[in-house]
Amino acid sequence: MAKNFDVVVIGGGPGGYIAAIRAAQLGFNTACIDEWKNKDGKPAPGGTCTNVGCIPSKALLQSSENYEEAGKHFADHGIKIAGLEIDVAKMLARKDQVVKQNNDGILFLFKKNKVTFFHGRGSFAKAGDGGYEISVKGAADETITAKHVIVATGSNPRALPGVPFDEQKILSNDGALRIPAVPKKLVLIGSGVIGLEMGSVWRRVGAEVTVLEALPTFLGAVDEQIAKEAHKAFIKQGLKIELGVKVGEIKTAGKGVSVAYTTAKGEAQTLDADNVIVSIGRVPNTIGLNPEAVGLKLDERGAIVVDGDCKTNLPNVWAIGDVVRGPMLAHKAEEEGVAVAERIAGQHGHVNFNTIPWVIYTSPEIAWVGRTEQQLKADGVAYKAGTFPFMANGRARALGDTTGMVKFLADAKTDEILGVHIVGPMASELISEAVVAMEFKASAEDIARICHAHPSLSEATKEAALAVDKRTLNF
Ligand code: FAD
Ligand code: NAI
Repeated sequence: MAKNFDVVVIGGGPGGYIAAIRAAQLGFNTACIDEWKNKDGKPAPGGTCTNVGCIPSKALLQSSENYEEAGKHFADHGIKIAGLEIDVAKMLARKDQVVKQNNDGILFLFKKNKVTFFHGRGSFAKAGDGGYEISVKGAADETITAKHVIVATGSNPRALPGVPFDEQKILSNDGALRIPAVPKKLVLIGSGVIGLEMGSVWRRVGAEVTVLEALPTFLGAVDEQIAKEAHKAFIKQGLKIELGVKVGEIKTAGKGVSVAYTTAKGEAQTLDADNVIVSIGRVPNTIGLNPEAVGLKLDERGAIVVDGDCKTNLPNVWAIGDVVRGPMLAHKAEEEGVAVAERIAGQHGHVNFNTIPWVIYTSPEIAWVGRTEQQLKADGVAYKAGTFPFMANGRARALGDTTGMVKFLADAKTDEILGVHIVGPMASELISEAVVAMEFKASAEDIARICHAHPSLSEATKEAALAVDKRTLNF
């Protein structure tokens, strides 16, 4: 096996494995090092996203949504079910199978693209003539050399100070995805993306879920009108969300855990629960990378310092994904991976940060791209807004899922689309049209004049674009 590579990628999450594939496609002799193991100790590339993030959470969201549909909504369609039960062990096994298919898929893609895969921990050993020595500690310890290094070591969950994760009662996203039986009572700390997604999973299968959020506003980064609509829907579903709280002591007691907190009104409270999930953000991960050996610069948050092109302070060392600035999203990591591989090849890889979509996979889903109404106001931009409710969309009525709306924000003068915000069914899929439109600098009028299939949820997108010019046809 060759030990000298043009490109070595450290980390095989969505940023790293995609960067390795693109580098190999461009003709570079490429290696990717990843240390993730499955429960049998076998390689499990794909990083946080594949193993304990995007993929398993969506598998559980789907299972729990099916269960809730069957229990609460099938009867509306005349479908009667007796003795409906949730088999949590089966639900978790299916999720594990979905994860494994993705791990195996990545190993296959490495073979197909002739990327050399090393299973183990990669760390900087030293900078040498014309490149870097990287030590790989795995089944066998070895040193490989790289002309270019792409660091894609991802992120780890942030713990509350003095409250380490035990993954039995005090859970990170990892433990949250493998609770063996439906907890009676579950507390989530942080009403961000993980809090809402994991809270939805366990509420749907029967847990009483309380979410404790430090900020006084719900989903502060989301367009206010959309966040309000989502908040209403979650409360109606039975999710208890307490805003503006200060979390105090967390004690594991007997079989459960107790969480002390102060409410927004200053009252001291304690919640007893079976488990607590702490989802208060993530921190960049450089554990074991040994950045000091080569003088790789980190910032005060522990993120690798990069410029707009993902270049670090060292020649030919690049960093991408969760370990650098910007949103911690799999598709952002992937786009940076492709762009860096292309830059190494002398091409002009580019990531447009203004058109990175966000999706929260709750029900209703929340998705957006571009600026919110509150951001436009803060930036002093003159804009026009148009909304269209799913209640007025025929396909949504046929689906029995009419919560929410599509909202367009367009420049008051030029009509260029500045932001699109959706809360409602299949928002994750609908948002792509808005991303494409914004990439092509389309106007709201462009979308309003495009023929959309009937009956489809996407007609709500067209109608919201028409609403910008106050000429909806179905509302
Ligand atoms: P990671 O995926 O974290 O991968 C880094 C890899 O590097 C890991 O395999 C790690 O083991 C390995 N590694 C680290 N150090 C070393 C080393 N020294 N040597 C060898 N290997 C090393 N994002 C979305 O876009 N959509 C979603 O739906 C979504 N859902 C999520 C749900 C949850 C519960 C969580 C926690 C996250 C979710 N995310 C989602 C975020 C997404 O998972 C991350 O943004 C994404 O995984 C970042 O990719 P990455 O390649 O930068 O890092
Ligand atoms: P988050 O940043 O989305 O939300 C954290 C929340 O915790 C915030 O609302 C914050 O105000 C609150 N918080 C912080 N400290 C607190 C404290 N001491 N007490 C109470 N509340 C506190 O972080 P989260 O949910 O952990 O997710 C991490 C990241 O993973 C996300 O930001 C996102 O980048 C990624 N992710 C993406 C998903 C998607 O794209 N669908 C799904 C899940 C995660």
